[in-house]
Amino acid sequence: MRKKIVAGNWKMNTLPAEGVELAKGVVAGRGEVCSCVNFIVCPPFTHLAMVAEALNGSDVALGAQNCAAEAKGAYTGEVAASMIAALGCKYVILGHSERRQYYGETSATLNKKMEQAYANNLTPIYCVGENLEEREAGKHFDVVKAQIEEVVYNLTEEQFKNLVIAYEPVWAIGTGKTATADQAQEIHAYIRKVLADKFGAAAAECPILYGGSCKPSNAAEIFAKEDVDGGLIGGASLKAGDFLAIGKGFAK
Ligand code: 13P
Repeated sequence: MRKKIVAGNWKMNTLPAEGVELAKGVVAGRGEVCSCVNFIVCPPFTHLAMVAEALNGSDVALGAQNCAAEAKGAYTGEVAASMIAALGCKYVILGHSERRQYYGETSATLNKKMEQAYANNLTPIYCVGENLEEREAGKHFDVVKAQIEEVVYNLTEEQFKNLVIAYEPVWAIGTGKTATADQAQEIHAYIRKVLADKFGAAAAECPILYGGSCKPSNAAEIFAKEDVDGGLIGGASLKAGDFLAIGKGFAK
């Protein structure tokens, strides 16, 4: 049985006190959702310590949205994987399309970040996905395949067992335009095949999340698909009620 995961990527939103309130709201309502759903919240770095405290005693896990490619040292403005792990993070989002697009993250950088994550016992949520132009040119399969081969294929079998993949089509992020459940299933199944080509049967255990304008009204249909194991939620994770309602989308 693969893990069911609903992860909230808060991006650069909320002030620290607002983040604490949001986290408390998730904890307060969490009992209304099946305990089989693993909730993760990923606030900005500045909120991690306070949100960790708000989550204390609950089963809602903490993640960061990024980490540095280096372990420590003279890298002004960077935040090391060891630092976020010390604050209680269990997960780290890596390779989000916004990081690739606006901050020039390449596979070479991401390989180093993945190494840092594993060295600090963090589970990476590794993001893949094509942009609109690539989708329209029918290149989406090749794009996600390359994003996986260039980074995930470098993992050991042990590391691969501790990995979450998020498929996020760039054209669906923050646009209100969601991939259809069939489009999601088609590419999730393909991603699982690419993973199986390298890691064999272990690929059947890897959670693959969908991300891109996922909300309470469409989550159930998307999560019902065989190879969709949950969601990486942006905008709708900023309201505790919506975030929890998305978790209720699991019927399987
Ligand atoms: P939205 O849910 O706001 O479209 O964002 C998705 C996303 O990028 C999550 O990482």
